[in-house]
Amino acid sequence: MSRLDVQLNRLSLKNPILVASGTFGYAREATAFAQFSRLGGIVPKTITPQPRRGNPTPRTVETSCGLLNSIGLDNDGIDAFAAKHLDYLLGLDTAVIANIAGHNADEFVEMATRLNEFSDLAALELNISCPNVSGGVDYGTDPSLTAEVVGRVRSACDLPVIAKLTPNVTNITEIAAAAAGAGADAVSLVNTFLGMAIDWRRRKPVLGNVVGGLSGPAIKPLALRAVWQVAQAVEIPIIGIGGIASLDDVMEFMVAGATAVQIGTANFYDPGLACRLVDELDALVAAEGFENVSEFVGTLTLPQQETCPT
Ligand code: FUM
Repeated sequence: MSRLDVQLNRLSLKNPILVASGTFGYAREATAFAQFSRLGGIVPKTITPQPRRGNPTPRTVETSCGLLNSIGLDNDGIDAFAAKHLDYLLGLDTAVIANIAGHNADEFVEMATRLNEFSDLAALELNISCPNVSGGVDYGTDPSLTAEVVGRVRSACDLPVIAKLTPNVTNITEIAAAAAGAGADAVSLVNTFLGMAIDWRRRKPVLGNVVGGLSGPAIKPLALRAVWQVAQAVEIPIIGIGGIASLDDVMEFMVAGATAVQIGTANFYDPGLACRLVDELDALVAAEGFENVSEFVGTLTLPQQETCPT
């Protein structure tokens, strides 16, 4: 066992630093900046059964400490993914986790069945949480729908299954528990927070889709809270996502209960960050005298509650 390898049920990763879907293209785009073999894994942009043109432009806008996007799952569809990208991705010396989205459980199952043919894939991440497509978020906002899609995908394919959860719900722990109960190997959280930007002078929304998903450092405290809450509620491993941009951020998520993390928005301005974090994490684990990074997971201690004298 190396200092950094981690196990998320059936998914083994050489280290806990992944790059998040939608922030690293299909990896080729980042060739000049990152040595892919150093990463724990790559999650390429979400694929759908059919090609999608995505939402009207503008689709991105920078906000205070964040990025608002309304891409709308623009992608060439699963056939193009299999024909143009999969061989390349599977030739990289790192775990490749395909991220899929369907309009309904049948579409998720259809895609999972197709991708099951590629046994070198490390896992499937089910995007039941995109805020930018009509109906796309429903599966991640209702525990019974979450359980249905996770359970059916789990039965239809042999690959480890990760459910990517939306924070745009009243109680994310219920959704995580539903995913766990239906057989998810892990949950990844959080996807973006629904938000908007307004150009008040023009009296218009900035995004063509009016609303979009907020990511980046602005959401880190919210994501940390969600990871910590979910860690109290489920036994399955958690992949933390949300504004991670430094080694301290990685450690905060791990201490809160994440076994691995995904770097997202930071890839846009620093595509070499994830690789550097692997080295920094390795050095930190050694310096702390730990044998394996998972010893940090879920080690948060809470302040003692003082009891008021009666
Ligand atoms: O709109 C998008 O393509 C974003 C996807 C997501 O947040 O999952």
